[in-house]
Formats: sequence, C-alpha cells, structure tokens
Amino acid sequence: MIYNITSPEETEALGRKLGESIKQNELKRAFIALDGEMGVGKTVFCRGFASAFGISGVKSPTYTIVNEYRSKDGTKIFHFDLYRIDGYDDLASIGYDDYIMSDGYSIAEWTARIPEEVPEEAIRVTISRTNDNENGRIIEITGIPV
Ligand SMILES: Nc1ncnc2c1ncn2[C@@H]1O[C@H](COP(=O)(O)OP(=O)(O)OP(=O)(O)O)[C@@H](O)[C@H]1O
Ligand SMILES: [Mg+2]
Repeated sequence: MIYNITSPEETEALGRKLGESIKQNELKRAFIALDGEMGVGKTVFCRGFASAFGISGVKSPTYTIVNEYRSKDGTKIFHFDLYRIDGYDDLASIGYDDYIMSDGYSIAEWTARIPEEVPEEAIRVTISRTNDNENGRIIEITGIPV
C-alpha cells in the first residue's frame, strides 16, 4: 500500500495503524524494516507504532542501537536504529539474533545498513520525501494489510 502523507501527525497515525493491524493479526513475532533518508520521519513512525501498544515517549535509540519497551499486557517492542551499525559483527555484539527471534515486535530504522540480515518475512516500510511540500511524504508498506 502507498500512502500520501502531509504532516508528522499523519505519519505517526499510520505507524499506529500498522501496530493495530499487527495486534489484530495476533502475530507472535514480526520484524518491521523501516527505511528512508535522514530526518524523513522513521522515528515519528515508530512512535506511532508503539502507541498502538500503549507505549509512549519513544525516542531514537541512536547511542544504544536498541531500546526495549514492554506494554501493559507484556508485549515487547524492540526499537533499533542501525545507522551506526557496520556489518554483522556489530549486530552480533548487540544480540541482534536473540532480539529478532524472541517473541515480540522488532521495528528497525536503517535496515539498508544490513540488507542481508533482514528476515525474509519482514514487513517493509519505506518513507520518502515529496517535492511539493516540506512536510509531504510517501509511505509504502508491504507485507501486511494496514
Ligand atoms: N510528514 C512527516 N512525517 C514525519 N515527520 C515529519 C513530516 N513532516 C515533517 N516532519 C518532521 O521531520 C522530522 C522527522 O524526524 P525523525 O527523527 O522521525 O526522522 P528519522 O527518519 O527517524 O531520522 P534519522 O534518520 O536521523 O533517524 C521531525 O522533526 C518531524 O516533525
Ligand atoms: Mg530516527
């Protein structure tokens, strides 16, 4: 699906919709690969995603690479920012495989850094800018109906 977005609020709302959709599908595990250039709105999207699980205050985990959140009902959300990751050794050092194989939902910014390590069944979200409006974005989501 392709969405035409005109504000940060809409990006956040779409993230939330994806979270709701994952909840409805009762998936035990999911990996969301979130890509797009710097400052395009990936973290804003993650914030919306987490809000579907009653989690607020999501910030970029830039220095820690991964932040772990837990909803009231025990659902775990792993929020990665892979911008500073350089190859598989870096990933191994943060326990990437353990995270993505455990029950819960992984949402990862900058998977373009580690294309080979994105699970095949990943839901993919790509955000790009539009030319007409500073706040304009095109968001494409594949792998799940939203
Ligand atoms: N339509 C939009 N959707 C999302 N963010 C928008 C939009 N229009 C403007 N913005 C602004 O762009 C910025 C996006 O910041 P955000 O941290 O989410 O980007 P990012 O893609 O995570 O960046 P980085 O690559 O550094 O991790 C925010 O300041 C937000 O207000
Ligand atoms: Mg970010």
